[in-house]
Order: sequence, then C-alpha cells, then structure tokens
Amino acid sequence: MEAILKIKGLKSYYYSGQNVIPAVDGVDLDIYPGEIVGIVGESGCGKSTVVRSLMGLLDPVSSKREGGQAIYLGKDLFQMKEKELCRIRGKEISMIFQNPLSALDPVYTIGDQIVEIIRIHEKISKKEAYEKAVFLLKQVKIPSPEVRIQQYPHELSGGMQQRVMIAIALACNPKVLIADEPTTALDVTIQDQILSLLKELRDQLGIAVILITHNMGVVAAVCDRMLVMYGGAVVEEGKCTELFENPCHPYTRGLLAAIPSIKERKEKLYTIPGQVPKMKVPVQYCRFCSRCSYAQEVCHEKEPGMQGENGHLYKCFYTPQQQEKEKCGPGGVAL
Ligand SMILES: Nc1ncnc2c1ncn2[C@@H]1O[C@H](COP(=O)(O)OP(=O)(O)OP(=O)(O)O)[C@@H](O)[C@H]1O
Ligand SMILES: [Mg+2]
Repeated sequence: MEAILKIKGLKSYYYSGQNVIPAVDGVDLDIYPGEIVGIVGESGCGKSTVVRSLMGLLDPVSSKREGGQAIYLGKDLFQMKEKELCRIRGKEISMIFQNPLSALDPVYTIGDQIVEIIRIHEKISKKEAYEKAVFLLKQVKIPSPEVRIQQYPHELSGGMQQRVMIAIALACNPKVLIADEPTTALDVTIQDQILSLLKELRDQLGIAVILITHNMGVVAAVCDRMLVMYGGAVVEEGKCTELFENPCHPYTRGLLAAIPSIKERKEKLYTIPGQVPKMKVPVQYCRFCSRCSYAQEVCHEKEPGMQGENGHLYKCFYTPQQQEKEKCGPGGVAL
C-alpha cells in the first residue's frame, strides 16, 4: 500500500537571539491510510514542531523550516502554492489540539462554528450545513446533538468540547487527522472515551491518524505503529506490538521500564536520569549519549544511523544484546 503522507528529512529550527534550537532535525515519517501512528517522547523533544511544520503553523518570525519534504498523495506540500495548500490543510489534513476551549470561539454557538467551517470548504446552503453539523455531532457521539448545537463552548464539559473539535476536524472529510495531545487535559475515563472515538472513526471512515502523546499507555491502547522521538530526532520506530515487546533503543527501553506494571509492582519506578539536553547545530553525536548508561566513546563522536529490519528501526550503534554486553565490557568498542 502507498503511504498517504510521507515526511522526509524534516528540519525545523527555532531562533532566539544567538541561539539556534534544532527542534526537529531530520525526521522521516510515513503514514498509511487507516492507520493510527503515535509520536511519543518527553516534553520538548519536538513532537508538536513536526506537525506544526506540516500544517504551516510555525511562527515565521522565530522559526524556520530548514529542509525536508512532505509528500501528500504524490505532491510536496512544502512546494505548493498557498491557494493549493489551503485546500489541503484544514480540509484533507486536519488537526485537533490539547486545549479545545482555546480553539473554540466563546461568543459563537457550537452550531455556528461548525456551519462556518463547512461553508468555507463546501458550497452548500446554511440549512444543509446545519444538518451536516448535527450529523457530525452524532458521529462523534454527542448526546442530544440538536440541543447541544445551540449551546456555547463554555456550556460543554472538556470531553464534549474535544468531541466538538473532532467534529469540526471531520467536517471536510479529511484523509489525515492529526491529534496533538488530545486527551492530556481530560480525566482518565473521558480520555479513554475520546481515544475509543478516534479508533472508531478510523475504523468507520478509514482516516489515518497521527496521535501525539507523552503517554506510552495511550500509544499501547490505540496505535498501530509508533515513533519515539528524542532531542528532535526519531530514535526508534515500528509496530507497537513489536516495539513494546522488543524495545531496542536505550531511550525506549528506559521509557518502557518507567511504566508501572500491574504484574510486577516495583518499589520505586525507574526514571531516566537527566534531562533532554539543549542541542547544538549540527548534532555530531548520539543525542541520547549524555543520559545513556550504555554509551561508549563512539557515541560521543558521531551520530548513529538507523539500524533494524522489517520496519522496526532504531538509532543506536548497538543491539540490545550488545548494549548489555558493552556496559559490562571494556568499553570504547566501535562497531
Ligand atoms: N516558539 C518557540 N521558540 C523557541 N523555542 C521553541 C518554541 N517552541 C518550541 N520551542 C523549543 O523547541 C523544542 C521542541 O518543542 P515542541 O513544542 O515541538 O516539543 P514537544 O515534544 O511538543 O513538547 P511537549 O510535550 O511539551 O508539547 C523545545 O526545546 C522547545 O523549547
Ligand atoms: Mg507539544
């Protein structure tokens, strides 16, 4: 199957004073129709910058896309003229955010807002658009949509507001839905309901979903495939089943060890020591080396490439077996 969206070598940097922050530094990501792909990683690793670059939401004053392609159905979004791009962004590729209230306008009813979006993209009457809005609210399982549609955003709970945002995102029948931490601000039970809804929409409509989260549990619950980001780069990717079973990058191994297990209750949760370092450009070492308990000399001297097979790839010089061995061994062995 052809990927619906192929991001290649994406680089997006922020500039503040004399500092260059390589927030996204060579990210590749393929998305296939009907799959849910998770992007995980600690705060500041560049998850939002990947999708903001894609959606053209970077602030032009403080940031710049320094390279890369985003091939959507055979055409590079980054090379498109503004008019063509507008037809795709927000319509074929749409996005929901962490805080639905900040994206909704407090002075208009839910109905007015959905109708407006529908009518920007579709030449239909107000009445038809209103009917479609009720249908969309039903689709995202908002009870009594005919009543809710007349309400203002503040009259709805956080979970309902997020459903409205999903309805708005679905208004133009997108092929790709990007969800940036869509459930982080919600209670756990509501979180589950929203995640189940995303899964159902994928099943019913066949849309591809990019789900950004810092929560491995969320990825395990809904994603088919996942990318683990660290310091602006993807350090491991693969099918979730494979990656959870056999994590290969020391960072992923650390993240998974940090998840509490019901089976074996540990006295103390493992946490990865240290913080995501501020990267200098160009990065000429393994991004994780300062926090990696397996790091060897070579890890400080050059950046490893991706290794692995069958779509399960990781950016480390060593296999998990070698990592364990090198830790106990003489060290400094370049492979
Ligand atoms: N407007 C900005 N100006 C300068 N630096 C920025 C700006 N926005 C983000 N950054 C920096 O870019 C890096 C990546 O940020 P980004 O928001 O993409 O991370 P994230 O993975 O989405 O984090 P979070 O989980 O907290 O949302 C961080 O180091 C961040 O400090
Ligand atoms: Mg973010």
